[in-house]
Amino acid sequence: MSIVNLSEVQEMAQKTAREFTNNEIKPVASINDREHRFPEDIIHKLGELGFMGITVPEQYGGSGLDYLSYMLALEEICKGCASTGAIMSVNNSLVCAPINTFGTEDQKSLFLKDLASGNKLGCFMLSEPEAGSDAASMKTTAILDGDNYILNGTKSWITNGAEADIAVVFASTDKSLKHKGVSAFIVEMRTPGVNIGKLEDKLGIRATSTAQIFFEDCKVPRDNILGSEGEGFKIALHTLDGGRIGIAAQAVGIAQAALEESVRYAKERKAFGKTISDFQGLQFMLADMTTRVDASRLLVWQAAVMKDRNVKYSKQSAMAKLFAAETAMWVTTKAIQIHGGYGYTTDYPVERFFRDAKITEIYEGTSEIQRIVIARETLKEIE
Ligand code: CAA
Repeated sequence: MSIVNLSEVQEMAQKTAREFTNNEIKPVASINDREHRFPEDIIHKLGELGFMGITVPEQYGGSGLDYLSYMLALEEICKGCASTGAIMSVNNSLVCAPINTFGTEDQKSLFLKDLASGNKLGCFMLSEPEAGSDAASMKTTAILDGDNYILNGTKSWITNGAEADIAVVFASTDKSLKHKGVSAFIVEMRTPGVNIGKLEDKLGIRATSTAQIFFEDCKVPRDNILGSEGEGFKIALHTLDGGRIGIAAQAVGIAQAALEESVRYAKERKAFGKTISDFQGLQFMLADMTTRVDASRLLVWQAAVMKDRNVKYSKQSAMAKLFAAETAMWVTTKAIQIHGGYGYTTDYPVERFFRDAKITEIYEGTSEIQRIVIARETLKEIE
């Protein structure tokens, strides 16, 4: 039961994703996590289902659906596997979206069609070893030389970095201008001078790659600039506003999955002569988990609907990410507690949910960054 009247199309996106998750993702999620295996077949099938460019217009290879449909689908996918959801959300939110919004017609036909249809995979390169939250302090440079920009520098924490075909890369075209000198580029990963470095060995979302990428005199055609010179920082923050709703939906998916596993377990497990779901102490935990998951989901839907209505939603996106990420950590901690010792082992999926939840408090802006965004808006809004 939902308080929002979902349209037939929105319900269909949710149902299709739910069925796909149950049939194709859940059976392999645990093994892919354990073996650090990128779910190539699943990503290919997500492309066939139209889930790799959900909001991209059909003329550019996407499904032409609204943002709420995208969030509904993403939550369902993340209930099965947060790694799969991360790969999907980077492609949708951080690569297709900025090319669709800021790209030229040529860029859309050259790159967006393949990305949105799932023929190619994208990644987003903003962070650097010494520029994470303070993204404007990036050191990577892009110097114009005839018809090409020459890129040099190192990018870090790049989700999909090892598998991507196309990257949206941020680099400084004029260091003296600080954030106003940052520009965005579409870079084909097979371009000479793009080198994949260390792959991180992570706590969670272990079926994704997280790579360091080196640019060494990498020649990028001048036509591949996204937007205009100096517009890159705004493109990055605009893109992250949308991306953060996606990470919130991912966190809701993880938390909902942990809640469902906890209820099932509590109804089966017996202690002191009854099933543990009969104990009020446990019921109170389930009540709090349910309430927090629902509140998170409503924040996701609020931000998505505002984005669909083209009203400013930076604060709502940050609130959704902040609250949903902290909920995912809290709910997955409780889920392990309900499972007792079993929850601490790989025999049950809740330990994976717990490990996967943590990243939602970190990537696409830490919880501290979300608090900065929210506080700034609140201080502006209230006299
Ligand atoms: N949309 C568009 N433009 C925006 C904006 C938004 N939401 N927010 C701010 N801007 C503009 C401002 O108007 C300003 O422009 P002008 O100078 O022309 O007026 C400019 O951007 C700078 O704004 P601020 O002064 O507010 O910038 P700041 O340095 O104080 O930083 C910040 C703001 C919120 C801290 C920002 O730097 C930020 O969000 N940092 C976190 C970065 C981040 O999320 N990184 C995640 C990397 S992606 C990832 O995780 C990789 C992956 O693979 C998943």
